[in-house]
Amino acid sequence: MADLFDKCKTDQGNFGAFRAMGDDYFTRPTLDALPGTRMDYKGHEQVMWSVNNYLGLAQDDEIKQIALDTIQTHSVSAPMGSRMMSGTTSDHINLEKKLAEFARKEAAMLFNYGYLGVMGTIASLTGQDDIIVMDKLSHASIVDGVLLSRAPFRVFRHNDMNSLETVLKRVNRERKGGVLIVGEGTYGMTGDLADLPGLCELKEKYDARLFIDDAHGIGVLGEKGRGTADHFGVQDKIDIYFGTFAKSFASIGGFSASSKEVVEWILYNARTQVFAKSLPMVYVRTLVKALDMIINGDDRRKKMWENSNKLKKGLREQGYFIGEGESPICAVCIPLKGKPVEEIGPLTVKYLREKGVFVTGITYPVIPIGLFMFRMIPTANHTDEDIYFTLNVFKKMESDLELDTTLTGDDLAGIRKVYGR
Ligand SMILES: Cc1ncc(COP(=O)(O)O)c(C=O)c1O
Repeated sequence: MADLFDKCKTDQGNFGAFRAMGDDYFTRPTLDALPGTRMDYKGHEQVMWSVNNYLGLAQDDEIKQIALDTIQTHSVSAPMGSRMMSGTTSDHINLEKKLAEFARKEAAMLFNYGYLGVMGTIASLTGQDDIIVMDKLSHASIVDGVLLSRAPFRVFRHNDMNSLETVLKRVNRERKGGVLIVGEGTYGMTGDLADLPGLCELKEKYDARLFIDDAHGIGVLGEKGRGTADHFGVQDKIDIYFGTFAKSFASIGGFSASSKEVVEWILYNARTQVFAKSLPMVYVRTLVKALDMIINGDDRRKKMWENSNKLKKGLREQGYFIGEGESPICAVCIPLKGKPVEEIGPLTVKYLREKGVFVTGITYPVIPIGLFMFRMIPTANHTDEDIYFTLNVFKKMESDLELDTTLTGDDLAGIRKVYGR
């Protein structure tokens, strides 16, 4: 008879081959230092391109001071209990009001984690009679929210409005309840922006609602960092706007923003928050400051864009295919040329780490099968020295590992699935 734990002895499961080989380069590297542009890995300084600290707030001294003061008055756990019972304070309500104003919506609701917020929001609004229509490259939290909701779902090709329209036509023939279209504003792994004007047009045409998880757009794009929908001028058409604090805010948590009645519904029905302890005060108070710094962060955003443009330009000049999205994320495609990612992934990642450049490799199931990318996050704190050092290491890697950066076969097919070309 099979034992439940038999699978744990195999190389199956998520990144199973890496787990089985005891890899600590490609998966689960140990990084002990404060998130920044230089960090130590295995006792060796690295130029860091893997933390989502877009505006550099992770080391901010004012935020640190507010955290220390709040810990003095509230310690680390206050308030205790769920929001429904004993976990609501005027600070929580005040932050929610500020977030609603920032997102240009009537109301907002805090969650302890972005992941749980996305899941809770989607699952609270949809049920067996509704249908969810999901972009193929949606983040795991969206997929899990859809599964938790028990609503039937359909998938459309990534960012492909023709595919979405075909799905919506079919869905409208069979729908009994409402329809929710779900996706990201800025796709965090590939760096491309959702066609939000197209999504808004179709959701209106087919009487659907639209949920956008803007984890990587908030703070980064749009006027005062209001996000991807603001960048496209369609924020008022997004029915539920979601932001996480784990990226540009350099904190923890997230929020859903929508009309007053929808937020109230989520507040009472999102099981991932209703039945969980409230966000601690130390986060709530520091988030007020982080939001303020994001709103007044034009200089930081300008520097982040300059750094992103320099890095992308340099890598393109060396022949690398860089994701074509308009976000600062620099997704560098490393052609596999038919070789297994288990070979090329660790080889290239290890080479870069040994030379002092820290990047994260991404592969299936995060991006289409057959594609291998480095996802690099340029931040406001990177310097020219960091960028030129990195470009030199990439150049040397091409010759030392005899890497051919031209895309062919499966690599091109994968690129087409992401960027539509
Ligand atoms: C698109 C997207 N949604 C949700 C999340 C989860 O957010 P958090 O880390 O705040 O739980 C992430 C984080 O990786 C993300 O990239």
